Order: sequence, then structure tokens, then C-alpha cells
Amino acid sequence: MRLGAETTRSLRAAEDARSFAILDQTLLPWRVVWLRIETKEAAAHAIRAMQVRGAPLIGAVGAYGLALALREDASDAALDAAHAMLAATRPTAINLRWALDRVRDAVLNQPHAARAALAWQVAGAICDDDVATCTAIGRHGLKLLEEIAARKPAGEPVNVLTHCNAGWLATVDWGTATAPIYLAHDTGIAVHVWVDETRPRNQGAALTAFELGSHGVAHTVVSDNAGGHLMQRGRVDIVIVGTDRVTRTGDVANKIGTYLKALAAHDNGVPFWVALPHSTIDWSLRDGIAEIPIEERGAEEVTEVTGLGLDGVVTRVRVASPGSPAGNPAFDVTPARLVTGLITERGRCAASETGLLGLYPEKV
Ligand code: MRU
Repeated sequence: MRLGAETTRSLRAAEDARSFAILDQTLLPWRVVWLRIETKEAAAHAIRAMQVRGAPLIGAVGAYGLALALREDASDAALDAAHAMLAATRPTAINLRWALDRVRDAVLNQPHAARAALAWQVAGAICDDDVATCTAIGRHGLKLLEEIAARKPAGEPVNVLTHCNAGWLATVDWGTATAPIYLAHDTGIAVHVWVDETRPRNQGAALTAFELGSHGVAHTVVSDNAGGHLMQRGRVDIVIVGTDRVTRTGDVANKIGTYLKALAAHDNGVPFWVALPHSTIDWSLRDGIAEIPIEERGAEEVTEVTGLGLDGVVTRVRVASPGSPAGNPAFDVTPARLVTGLITERGRCAASETGLLGLYPEKV
């Protein structure tokens, strides 16, 4: 990923295996601050407070958090307690539990003295896997953008609409939904991104726009309610979003508002694609609406917004009428029937059990 003049991952592990650093996403895009994490408690806080966010990245942070926990106490009881504490930080993205399970399974039958170092290695492997996975998603998604570009008059950009932030800030590098976009841009395809602001926390306006700007990709931030109108006017060629959990039948949980974009895309014949790594598939679930837990976050995220004041100071202001209660479901579920297809590291498939099992036959 490009961050000013440097190329970096969104998570940096220290060579002494005693800490790792994350970009504090609550301060972006106004301030670029690397935050050092040295304890499991700090890792849990970073996930809960959304200093890190995005399904694959919280998995990676959870894995390193568990490795730090094992440095303090490598007993089975401590392992279970730290696993449970980190898993409880955010409920919807399955990648967190997947990563924690992967670390726990790797160390469980090992001597206590070897556990912390092994867990650290596994966390590193999870990060490397995420980078390779997102790179492959980029290659498979690029074909879609190439096909659209080939049908458009010369010089006209491919218009992609995306929701929330499924970019390098949400992963270890490249992103899921953004990987094909960055690759298209880098290979010379003209691409323009409609960036949903993504209330209540504005991950689109603050984070996706920051990323695309850093990479030099043309983009326009739009209010969350603009997507349907843009689709009616033929100004969106394709929707690509990320996801926090996909059932084995292809239902997709993602940031609140994704479902409405899928409905609008369906009504307007706009292809609606979902980009995901293998770690986002919950093979144990069949019915996303009934079974995927939806995180309910604090009302203040709806009643207040944070931004840069005209005086240059980051400020929090209230936007809702004083005293009015607010509800804040953080995710919704888009049923598989509204999803044109899934882009994974193994290729593209229909959002269905047959489609997914075609790519992951070992899960039959
Ligand atoms: O609540 P967030 O910001 O963690 O939600 C993240 C999203 O919805 C992302 O789009 C999703 O995790 C995919 S990340 C590649």
C-alpha cells in the first residue's frame, strides 16, 4: 500500500516479537499515527475501539494479540481466556475467530515454552496469507474490470461503486474490493470509484477516499443515499464490496447499507460483486439473515460525527436532536439472490453453495 512516499503493510510486527504496530484508523485521514501494541488488552482495545477494523485486519491483530498473551502466560487456561476475550471484541466478522482458532490449534499440543514463539510465527503466516490472498483476488477481479473497459468508448472510465472500506486499511495489504481497482489503475485501465460515505462512521469518506487518493485513483465521495440515483442514470458499471462473513450458501454480511445498494443494483441491472478471502466464509452457516450475529454499536456513532473543524482541529459534533434515542446496527445481510458473484483468491463463482464448493471442494 502507498502511504505518502513509503510502501508499507497496515500492520508491522517488531523483530523482537514483543509488539506490533498498527495505523490508528480513528485518526485517519487527518493524522497518520502508528500505534504500538504490546499487550493482549491493547490489542482487544484497538479492535473494539476500531483503531483497527475490517474483517481480515482484525483477524491478524487478534492473532498477534493471542501471541502476546502467550508471552505472559502460556498455560491452557490462559490461552482459552485470551482467545475468548479477543473473540468477544467484535461479533460479525468471522475472520477474527478463524485467526484465533488457527493460532490456538497450532500451539495447543506444543510445550508451553514454545507456544509464544510459535503463535507469533502463525500470526505472521496469517498476514502473509492475507497479502497473497488479496493479490489473487485482485487478479480475478481485474478480469471483470477489463471486460467492462473493453465495452466502453475509448477514454471513458470504468465506474465502480464501493461501500465502507474494504481496502488495504481493512486488510494487511491491497484490500479485497479495492485490489482489482488498484490493479486496474496500475495496468493503465481508466477507473473511477464512487465512494459511499458510509455513515455512521464514514469509513468510505474517511478511509477509502484516503486510500484511493494515496494511490492516485480517481474517485468521488457520495452520500450513502446517492447510489440508487447514480445507477438509474447509468453512472455505475459495477458494484464491488467487501464482506465480514459469507455463509456456505452465499449470503453476505457487510457494513450497514450494503443490502440497499444490492437492491438498487438488482433493480437497475448493475452487476453486484463481493470480494472475499477464504477466511471470511463461515462454512457452518446456511441462512445469513437468521444466523449471522449483527453487531449493535453505540448510539453516539449515529448522533455525533467527528471531522476536521475549519480551524484545523479535529472536532466531534452532535448532529441529532438532543435527547433523541438512536439505534446503530453495524452490518446487514445481502441475500445470495442479489449477489451477481463472489471474487475469491481461487477465482470467481456464483453466490451459492454449488458455486463456493466448486472453488473449495475440500469443504464438501
Ligand atoms: O465495521 P468495520 O469498519 O470493521 O466494517 C468493515 C466492512 O464492512 C468491510 O467492508 C469488510 O470488513 C470487508 S473488509 C475487507
